[in-house]
Amino acid sequence: MSLTDRPYDVVVWGATGVAGQLVADHLTGQYTPEELSLALGGRNEERLRRVETRLVDGTREWDDLPLVLGDATDPASLRELARSTRVVCTTVGPYTTYGTPLVEACVEAGTDYCDLTGEVTWIREMIDRYHDEAVETGARIVHSCGFDSIPADLGNLLVQSFATDEFDAPCELVRIYLEAGSGGVSGGTMASAVAMYEAASTDPIARQTLRNPYSLAPRGERAGVDPGEQRRPKRDPLRDVWTAPSPMAPVNERVVRRSNAVLGYPWGREFRCSEVVPTGRGLGGAAAASAIAVGLGLGDVAMSIGPVREGLSRFVFPEPGEGPTNAQMDAGHFTVRVFGRGTAPDGPFVVASEISADRDPGYGATAQMLGEAAMCLAREEIDSPVPGGVLTPASGIGAPLAERLREVGLTVAVAEWTDTQSD
Ligand SMILES: NC(=O)c1ccc[n+]([C@@H]2O[C@H](COP(=O)([O-])OP(=O)(O)OC[C@H]3O[C@@H](n4cnc5c(N)ncnc54)[C@H](OP(=O)(O)O)[C@@H]3O)[C@@H](O)[C@H]2O)c1
Repeated sequence: MSLTDRPYDVVVWGATGVAGQLVADHLTGQYTPEELSLALGGRNEERLRRVETRLVDGTREWDDLPLVLGDATDPASLRELARSTRVVCTTVGPYTTYGTPLVEACVEAGTDYCDLTGEVTWIREMIDRYHDEAVETGARIVHSCGFDSIPADLGNLLVQSFATDEFDAPCELVRIYLEAGSGGVSGGTMASAVAMYEAASTDPIARQTLRNPYSLAPRGERAGVDPGEQRRPKRDPLRDVWTAPSPMAPVNERVVRRSNAVLGYPWGREFRCSEVVPTGRGLGGAAAASAIAVGLGLGDVAMSIGPVREGLSRFVFPEPGEGPTNAQMDAGHFTVRVFGRGTAPDGPFVVASEISADRDPGYGATAQMLGEAAMCLAREEIDSPVPGGVLTPASGIGAPLAERLREVGLTVAVAEWTDTQSD
């Protein structure tokens, strides 16, 4: 079936889960059935029907929503799903466990795809297995369309486009600052973290993926000047603050480096990018940076030990299907700023972007980001020279996503940063 004959624009696959329901809430709240042919997908008809009833009761425009039944472990059902829609928007995770057959089905059918994965070991596997075929079929497989990694990847794209337009030069040094954030966590997210640590404990390629800062670059291009994530407290090279390691750096930095590589190195082969948490000035800033670094280090050690990981999964982490409360989500917010330094003919310059929202980053805002990524794909609002492949938000969609995020209420801004501005 050609893309234009497909019955659906978007299928939200995993619509019964915590993130999937929020994405379906966002899309039915934002668009009408005349604007979007939307279906809900999952493995359990009764649970899907309950979600559909809740959505229909909550809006005036939607009288019903078609259901697409299948199972992540049944490739035939996934092939049918992929052939029924222009875009599959999937929240069925851990992606390491459930994701591969769906990517294969979308690549085969030339169907665009977006997800919420931060599982770098799995993304690398998808690149190695499916990138070339996806280029041939024209499928855009766009990973990491949630809090990891849209603010970092799109924030860098905004900074680079501004620098190129205004100064005729890219930024060779980029710092991503996880400035502020508050929100909850779901069982699905913790299960995905556990799946990635498990992969790393048994699979040498997964371990190598986590060690190499360029592991998501195309094969043959997995080396460069960046040393990898910051692991200790450090003074910042661009701002007068202390910084701590960021828990999202292992994903976001690699995604941004992949964007540079897939786009043909528009920001140079010497492009350096790192993500940190700014903690302020003076002794207080240094102490806070040390506390975060120690906490993250201990967390990493605990998750690397099999029995501890198992104990945390069984007794501490929420179960799959459990998510943050409405109160936690309502109180959530985040700000991610990206600073880039470049050199124009008349001297150095600094550009800064900000992506922020008064919503829980991992759920409320993530649902907006994933939903709008799916809308860009469905409407072919793409600004990228790349025809298809296993891609990132910046290389698979690009600037139109910034426009859509602004329209649904996120702050998305970019400007020159001058010495008169302070932190
Ligand atoms: N990047 C980010 O910022 C971000 C934010 C939030 C979440 N995430 C990621 O998103 C993923 C989902 O998280 P979540 O909290 O929504 O998880 P969840 O609540 O556990 O939802 C998982 C979904 O997968 C479905 N599922 C499980 N096994 C399936 C199978 N065999 N076939 C078809 N469907 C199946 C579940 O269906 P049933 O209801 O039938 O069990 C449910 O709809 C995780 O990987 C998480 O890490 C990322």
